[in-house]
Amino acid sequence: MITFGQENTHIYHVDIGDGGPLDYTNCWQALTPSEQARAERFRFDLHRNRYVRAHGHVRHILAAYMDVAPSEITLQTGPRGKPFISSHDLYFNMSHSADTAVYAVTQSGEIGIDVEMFDRKVEIDDLSRHYYTKAEQGALAALTEAASRRELFFWLWTAKEARMKVTGEGLALDPRHIDVAIEAGRPVSYRKPDEPKASLVPIELAKIAGACSVAGLFEPRFTVKSIEDLG
Ligand SMILES: CC(C)(COP(=O)(O)OP(=O)(O)OC[C@H]1O[C@@H](n2cnc3c(N)ncnc32)[C@H](O)[C@@H]1OP(=O)(O)O)[C@@H](O)C(=O)NCCC(=O)NCCS
Repeated sequence: MITFGQENTHIYHVDIGDGGPLDYTNCWQALTPSEQARAERFRFDLHRNRYVRAHGHVRHILAAYMDVAPSEITLQTGPRGKPFISSHDLYFNMSHSADTAVYAVTQSGEIGIDVEMFDRKVEIDDLSRHYYTKAEQGALAALTEAASRRELFFWLWTAKEARMKVTGEGLALDPRHIDVAIEAGRPVSYRKPDEPKASLVPIELAKIAGACSVAGLFEPRFTVKSIEDLG
């Protein structure tokens, strides 16, 4: 069984495309009947495959901390959709973007994680005008190079999403009410909101052109682990 040492938070970065570590059948078998039914409702294979792999992997990861079979883990859902485990002293959160999924697991308190690919097709100027604070817009405007502006946009996006997810509020927390402090092109802390106070860690993921942020209602000391570490 996996336990926590010096680092109180474990981050997993998993390819949920065809080249992923666990095959489709293995992931499918880890799902509960209701998750399998949800998977069957996807109209497109691409979306079904990603769902099955994203949720199959999270069950395999959590099982390694709980000493139960992946399909036997009972996940409950908060009022705005945040999944949680009530049977064990374990917190987790997950995010997926295209073929990448990230998972955060800890015993230290509520956690939120978000990942976004830099090439996601969104109008960054429009969105930042509507959803980013004046200070964040200023930091973006100061970048003259389009690629750097795009990258900072997504780092900020993941920081905001992680803050929305740490408490489970989701979009009920207005992204304009989250003000993210930036240092050297990375989000480093939350200036707002104060309640509850959340910490923020930008995570550099190897081999992906994207941003990933973790928010915790505690101070995360994290390590990025591989699914192979599960044994
Ligand atoms: C649902 C939301 C919490 C995150 O959604 P998202 O970024 O589209 O999706 P992610 O892949 O990062 O996370 C989804 C996972 O988070 C978890 N989740 C769902 N609701 C959650 C909540 N309220 N709090 C925390 N985690 C939640 C689930 O495990 C979910 O997995 P599933 O959809 O496969 O069941 C919400 O913030 C949202 O809909 N955001 C839309 C994006 C947006 O407009 N952002 C504003 C610009 S900053």
